[in-house]
Amino acid sequence: MDYKNYVKIVENWPKEGIKFKDITPLMADGNAFRSAVDEIVDYAKEKEIDVVVGPEARGFIIGCPVSYALGVGFAPVRKEGKLPREVVKVDYGLEYGSNVLTIHKDAIKPGQRVLITDDLLATGGTIEATIKLVEELGGVVAGCAFIIELSYLDGLDKLEGYDVLTLMSY
Ligand code: PRP
Repeated sequence: MDYKNYVKIVENWPKEGIKFKDITPLMADGNAFRSAVDEIVDYAKEKEIDVVVGPEARGFIIGCPVSYALGVGFAPVRKEGKLPREVVKVDYGLEYGSNVLTIHKDAIKPGQRVLITDDLLATGGTIEATIKLVEELGGVVAGCAFIIELSYLDGLDKLEGYDVLTLMSY
């Protein structure tokens, strides 16, 4: 399926000069969304995944149907202050300032094989931070899956040595 037919490019959003890739039309179309999720599910089956991890907020939209289809659990990675129990956390740099992501300490057991999902790979900062959290808990990052990758931002460079699935690239 040509998923690009379901991406709307929004000029100058959220800032002047940015061409935002809006994939909500893909999610809004039952066939396209199911096809995208199914591709990630097939990929995850090959990797023998024990648990799916997704970063807030759009990583949930992709990760939850994948975990449901696989019959494995989903663990959310959230911004600081959102998870109620003991967490591990990681600080990562943004274009301006920094952000903290957290995961519950008991979300992953050592040795579990993890699929990390998100809608978008841009600079790779979010996925890099998420990988750190998973590995700190002893999880094995068996794969990373994205609907869309912005190749001009070089996020894949941060994923060297990891197995990556992207359904489309700009
Ligand atoms: C977006 C997107 C990814 C991240 C990718 O999330 O959903 O998680 O940016 O960018 P990166 O590769 O440069 O880190 P955002 O931070 O906008 O949060 P949201 O999903 O809560 O809107």
